[in-house]
Amino acid sequence: MMSNLNEMIELARATRERAHAPYSGFHVGACIRASSGRLYVGCNVENAAYPQGQCAEATAVGAMVSGGDTRIVEIVVLGGGQRLCTPCGGCRQRLSEFAAADAPIHICGPDGLRKTVTMDELLPYSFSPENLED
Ligand code: THU
Repeated sequence: MMSNLNEMIELARATRERAHAPYSGFHVGACIRASSGRLYVGCNVENAAYPQGQCAEATAVGAMVSGGDTRIVEIVVLGGGQRLCTPCGGCRQRLSEFAAADAPIHICGPDGLRKTVTMDELLPYSFSPENLED
């Protein structure tokens, strides 16, 4: 039986195939495991009006919230190229809204898992919902 991480990587890989990225040519897939155990996927969705493009992580977060989940347990981000496909600055903030500081972010390439980092490593000293409560 496939491990949970391998299943998430396969889902991110399949979802990446559906990316709409005719402008950058850079295709990304993401898969979130939420606290309910459900998996949510997303791909990047670009637009001829370039700034309207959306990252794969943002698409997956939208699917998760639309599906009724609000906690990210872990996430796979899978992109191409030689470098690590780390979430952009905006997506780090989007993920931190729903992920604990120790939540694993699995950075993958077409070859599979490349590096796992925590939410806090990606976005230290983040501005979180708790900041609004003080
Ligand atoms: N992109 C993502 O979807 N996620 C990332 O983690 C990095 C970048 C997308 C945005 C854009 O559609 C393309 O990759 C090139 O930046």
